[in-house]
Amino acid sequence: MAATSRSVSGKTAAKAGAKAGATILFSLKNEVGGLVRALGTFQEKHVNLVHIESRKSKRRNSDFEIFVDCDSDHHQLRELTELLAQHADVVEIMPPESQRHDEDRDRTVDVPWFPEKISDLDLCKQVLMYGSDLDADHPGFKDSAYRKRRNYFADLARGYKHGEQIPRVDYTAEEVQTWARVFRELNQLYPSHACKEFLNNLPLLVQHCNYKEDNIPQLEDVSRFLKERSGFSIRPVWGYLSPRDFLAGLAFRVFHCTQYVRHSSDPFYTPEPDTCHELLGHVPLLAEPSFAQFSQEMGLASLGADDDAVRKLATCYFFTVEFGLCKQDGRLRAYGAGLLSSVGELKHALSGEAEVRPFDPRLTCDEECVITAFQNVYFVTETFDDAKSKMREFAKRIRRPFSVRYDAYTQSVAVLKDSGSIQTLLRDLRHELDVVDDALNRLGRRSAAQRRPPPPPPGDA
Ligand SMILES: [Fe+2]
Repeated sequence: MAATSRSVSGKTAAKAGAKAGATILFSLKNEVGGLVRALGTFQEKHVNLVHIESRKSKRRNSDFEIFVDCDSDHHQLRELTELLAQHADVVEIMPPESQRHDEDRDRTVDVPWFPEKISDLDLCKQVLMYGSDLDADHPGFKDSAYRKRRNYFADLARGYKHGEQIPRVDYTAEEVQTWARVFRELNQLYPSHACKEFLNNLPLLVQHCNYKEDNIPQLEDVSRFLKERSGFSIRPVWGYLSPRDFLAGLAFRVFHCTQYVRHSSDPFYTPEPDTCHELLGHVPLLAEPSFAQFSQEMGLASLGADDDAVRKLATCYFFTVEFGLCKQDGRLRAYGAGLLSSVGELKHALSGEAEVRPFDPRLTCDEECVITAFQNVYFVTETFDDAKSKMREFAKRIRRPFSVRYDAYTQSVAVLKDSGSIQTLLRDLRHELDVVDDALNRLGRRSAAQRRPPPPPPGDA
């Protein structure tokens, strides 16, 4: 029987219904080459691997578990697990995903915690680097006054809670001077380098948020402006947030912004985001509803996703929101904030010498993100809607046992994982469709009335 199974191709066996498949979860023994030996058992038993991933274990003390979808019949599976047990600790064997019940699915995926309401963002504060502690190669590392100032900004952001006003800052003359140099140089480039949505929104920021050369706008004013334009709001942050926490903010249309200014010794270089980058690079596009929607959907896709999916989403974010290019009127234009806040890289990206490829999340997600030099490659998208539909398709492939939907009334995320939550959504959608139906009927009646010939004048009969 084993010999027969070995000689049957996966395709033929599937046709005959012989290979139902299975999902196996196992952890490795603490020995060198453990993974190779464990996977070798699948080869030895001629079992095809359909999907494999590793992830942090929640149920054991071991660091990682290996999650394998395989194509095997019952007999193969028994032999395989006996052999696999010699090299690994088999944690669980389950039916393949397509045959699993909801409860099984819930059990198989370790869902990381994620915020479900906007105030939960108070708990998302994992700053990875460049908080108040500066690296030795940071331009401000040896400047004690600058480091003291950074501590001040870090304390402001750390103390912030959802619903509070963002503290206003009295920027020093030196900080305003640094901002002014960046503002002046970039504004000369924008008309020929920035996308039209950016150019449309920048004058509104001048008008409503006091964007000008000799004034650094206040985050609170910008947050209020964005709320009215696109529903986005701002939270202060004191350094690089973890990708998971940063993306989680986007799910609630919350953008984490730094409030400090880069070191004055080199206004055109900063190793980390600063308020010049946020205010000039990000804010004009966040005021654009289609871009806001694109950003939020990336955030929603990250909630409860595993670390690898978050890494891929963060890379897509990096090559769109931070370094994205688009085509407008037959020419390349920048919409990425990393470009729109950097004189040197903005010129470089549109010089005609930089490598440019079409944005495709399936490929872009594995590209290397360069932090301290120009990017190796830039990705171009036709429109934000085009990028959004590609990201939607990409997000559907992310493994998680539920979908999420944002409720703008309660600023919370509805987790759609059972028939009750899905029926609630369906009821809401039916109501929305009723409104559309009613509007169409009224429109139809109005059009018919306009087409009807006018009544004859009195006395014509
Ligand atoms: Fe940024």
